[in-house]
Amino acid sequence: MTQDALKRAVAAAAIDEIKPLLHADCVIGVGTGSTANHFIDLLAAHRHDFKGAVASSEATAKRLRDHGIEVFELNHVGSLPVYVDGADEINPRLEMIKGGGAALTREKIIAACAERFVCIADASKRVAVLGGFPLPIEVIPMARSYVARELVARGLTPVYRDGVITDNGNQVLDCYDYLIEAPAELESELNDIAGVVTNGLFARRGADVLLLAGEEGVTRFT
Ligand code: 5RP
Repeated sequence: MTQDALKRAVAAAAIDEIKPLLHADCVIGVGTGSTANHFIDLLAAHRHDFKGAVASSEATAKRLRDHGIEVFELNHVGSLPVYVDGADEINPRLEMIKGGGAALTREKIIAACAERFVCIADASKRVAVLGGFPLPIEVIPMARSYVARELVARGLTPVYRDGVITDNGNQVLDCYDYLIEAPAELESELNDIAGVVTNGLFARRGADVLLLAGEEGVTRFT
């Protein structure tokens, strides 16, 4: 199976996972990326079974609307029973690196609000230790060089993601080749650097459920 077919398979499993939660007043959180896109495409068939969605990026909002799914401002939504999103890496404790698509800040906000985070991924995303994938850090543009120096001082190797502006008008530094033994601690430490908006570690609020697609099918981890 191709990686894209695995992403489609896990998106289908996510539909089965959330179907029991859907009802006429229900608003769900929807993530960003190619796996989330498959989920959105399959969700379209169920659009009359729930009220709408909160989107973690402008791209996701557009795709949802194109499918006739109403998109709500998070500030106008009382509760969010579930958030479905992909990941760049996920470890056995369901801690993640996210932000490969530069949507990490809105993703983290929606994850914080959601009662349940369902991560959908193909098997290549599962790792023993996070850090093989470069850790994205969204920064206020004027703070980029300062934050980069602070990261270097902590042993990280940041590279400016040239030409990328996030939906929030900020820039992204990607930190390469740094194995993360204590994700929750590093997440907090990086948040404390002035000028950091969000870092791509989702450890303090990890996933509640991982649906992982491999050649043998989709496996559910909690
Ligand atoms: C976007 C993300 C995505 O969830 C992550 O990059 C995975 O993307 P894909 O499903 O395309 O592999 O965090 O900011």
